[in-house]
Amino acid sequence: MGTSPKRHLPCHSSLFVIPKATYFLFVPLALLNLYLFFPSVPNDPQHQQRTTAVSSSNFQIQPTDKAEEQKQSPAVRIPCDYADGRWVPKPGVPTYDDASCTTIKSGQNCMAHGRPDTGYLHWRWQPAACRLPAFSAANFLRLLANKHLSFVGDSLARNQMESLLCLVASYAGPPDLVYRREQDKFRRWVFRSHNATVSIYWSPFLVNGTEQSPTAGRVQNHMHLDAADERWAAELGEMDVLVISAGHWFLLPTVFYTGGEVVGCHHCGGLNRSESGFFEGFRRAVRTALGAAVGGMAEGGMAVVATFSPAHFEGEWDKAGACSKVEPFREGEKEMEYMDREMWRIGVEEVASAVAAVERVRVEVLDVTRMAMMRPDGHPGPYMHARPFEGGAKERVQNDCVHWCLPGPIDAWNEVLLELLKRWREEEGDVAVAAS
Ligand SMILES: *[C@@H]1O[C@H](CO)[C@@H](O)[C@H](O)[C@H]1NC(C)=O
Ligand SMILES: *[C@@H]1O[C@H](CO)[C@@H](O)[C@H](O)[C@H]1NC(C)=O
Ligand SMILES: *[C@@H]1O[C@H](CO)[C@@H](O)[C@H](O)[C@H]1NC(C)=O
Repeated sequence: MGTSPKRHLPCHSSLFVIPKATYFLFVPLALLNLYLFFPSVPNDPQHQQRTTAVSSSNFQIQPTDKAEEQKQSPAVRIPCDYADGRWVPKPGVPTYDDASCTTIKSGQNCMAHGRPDTGYLHWRWQPAACRLPAFSAANFLRLLANKHLSFVGDSLARNQMESLLCLVASYAGPPDLVYRREQDKFRRWVFRSHNATVSIYWSPFLVNGTEQSPTAGRVQNHMHLDAADERWAAELGEMDVLVISAGHWFLLPTVFYTGGEVVGCHHCGGLNRSESGFFEGFRRAVRTALGAAVGGMAEGGMAVVATFSPAHFEGEWDKAGACSKVEPFREGEKEMEYMDREMWRIGVEEVASAVAAVERVRVEVLDVTRMAMMRPDGHPGPYMHARPFEGGAKERVQNDCVHWCLPGPIDAWNEVLLELLKRWREEEGDVAVAAS
């Protein structure tokens, strides 16, 4: 691999160069994604990896050149572009709270954990070209009656699934938990009134691989980019709607394989290889997952890819103020970071390719990157833990600036998802969906 010829990249391309501005993101994200999911990872600052910038480009997989060509989200079959919009004030009370929704995971239960400000609860997403209706649980249940919607991915997939459960349960009452295993990494719920099933499959790589124990330090994860993770792919036949949501784990130390051969690595450690970055690995994983979905789901199903959800660390991850904003960014206040944009682009492009190639299953993008990017105020921050400042101010506290408080901005992802569901069922001719 060290002898592989230098691949030509147009000189304007920044595909494999990480500007300094985004560099610091690599450190806390890698940590957070590990210790947030596993309960007992030591809070050890030595784990902070002072990495070298990801700059070389010797992935053996040929990258597509689309990244250079396409600057804009390609056209999808949605008349309204929900991704283009802004957050506007929303009076009134949130649809649910920590009392009315009993399934909020502790780390996202900002209200119960004593977050003092509430302004972050009072915004709605206003697309530029249409109005995004408030979430209607009645519509959702009608559209999903006798159907099964699955989320596949990492803890952000779970975060969105839990938002959805709360939004529906506030109307229909709590769903029945009908299946769970591996510390809740795989769960299935049914809203009995409509026999509507919602499930979550833990699969942060989407593809087959091995997750290293978070206590193993810098040891790499292993991802087989050509094989979808069978833990969900084997059950595609039972899914009517699939939401794929992943990305952050690709920032962790990883060895990428195809056909059993190493094709790249990120934080290569003891491997005698040079850094390949993770964009191409992420692209291949999304492509493999979508390919499995459109091949394995029943005809007429819908596969949705949620785009990358940016984090908002503004300082050190274990210092107060890591993400302390209490309002959304104003228009023009924030440019999308390079890494977030590239991850977004990969999701959008892979969906566009699949839409062009596939007839039997509908493929859609749930383009949340900009919505998410504008909401630095929506993360738990120190309130990932209950009452973090009890007993006075603290020098160091863990901050979660990746996931979203519930209720919070991520509820709007489900408002967009519901619009995708409506259009899917309308165009199938299955149900007449009243305009709301
Ligand atoms: C590392 O790889 C290079 C190029 O393939 C090779 O020349 C070198 O001997 C390798 N070093 C070790 C320690 O394996
Ligand atoms: C309930 O929904 C599932 C799909 O999630 C379906 O297979 C099953 O037949 C439905 N049950 C009834 C009684 O309609
Ligand atoms: C998944 O990868 C492991 C090696 O990590 C391999 O043993 C296994 O056969 C693979 N499974 C599939 C379905 O590809």
